Amino acid sequence: MTHQITLKPSGHQYTVADGEILLEAALDAGFVLPYGCRNGACGSCRAKVLEGTVDHGRSQKGALPDNARSEGYTLLCCATAQSDLVIECRELADSSEYPVRIMPCRVQALEKLADDVMLISLKLPVNERLAFRAGQYIEFMLKGGGRRAFSIANAPHDDGFLQLHVRRIEGGKFTHHVFESMQVKEILRFEGPHGTFHLREESDKPIILVAGGTGFAPIKSMVEHAIHNHIQRPIKLYWGARNRAGLYLHEMAAQWAAEHPHIEYIPVLSEVGPDDAWSGRSGLVHEAVLEDVADFSPYQVYACGAPGMIDAARDDFCAHGLPADEFFADAFTFST
Ligand code: FES
Repeated sequence: MTHQITLKPSGHQYTVADGEILLEAALDAGFVLPYGCRNGACGSCRAKVLEGTVDHGRSQKGALPDNARSEGYTLLCCATAQSDLVIECRELADSSEYPVRIMPCRVQALEKLADDVMLISLKLPVNERLAFRAGQYIEFMLKGGGRRAFSIANAPHDDGFLQLHVRRIEGGKFTHHVFESMQVKEILRFEGPHGTFHLREESDKPIILVAGGTGFAPIKSMVEHAIHNHIQRPIKLYWGARNRAGLYLHEMAAQWAAEHPHIEYIPVLSEVGPDDAWSGRSGLVHEAVLEDVADFSPYQVYACGAPGMIDAARDDFCAHGLPADEFFADAFTFST
């Protein structure tokens, strides 16, 4: 059985089969709706069901709390239709400039940026390049059928290699492979670019960037893209990590701030140890932003990190004046 989906305010329509994810079907039909993790964690794909009923699937409570469900909201990356639907959501310009492709790639270099963070540089086939927006991600397609998503850490103009920051996950099969047995020249296959977590260049609002751990990767891509394109909007970059080693490209971020007066860099450690020799900010990264900014209404915020940080940032920043549609997020979810 199929159901007809109508998007408001555009009036665009598409059909879904029983059990088909609403977001996937919309993308297949050529409509670009906002999304990030595709795992029910980041809230980027939240939309309001005006008519009809949905099954919320594996939506996570942080991204879709009970009160939002009862107000009619759903996460399109998890929801399936149980009837014809009318859905109110934001649509983005078409993505034909950045088509999703499946490509082979070769591991060109492996470099440990910290004990638990590996920089992987990937080389694409000769004469191929991947057009992507700063902040997007790719998904490795693993031999056994699984997929693993990683944000692209380099900027689109710097496309000799694709660079990823891979954090070691306890019990994570793929990341165990990356740290223990991956070899230069290994061939992988990926699909991408994915995600609508990217810099909105049409805006002239000042920007707050919030990165947690390896959530720095897409943020790095955005900053390098902004510098390359002479985007002069003020940027406050907050990078939170547990300890000093977690700020694995601290000097690079400090240099951006030293060389560009419109960029401010605020590193924040949550578990400062005696070895860290740290005189900077401490605490949770989103709380550091709240200490500095009383009124978020003029800003645009981009946040990438663990789902808990994203949820807290969205709630607290919006409670302090940030318009909900000026908060963009990508949340990490892990597969073991
Ligand atoms: S919650 Fe749907 S894309 Fe992240």
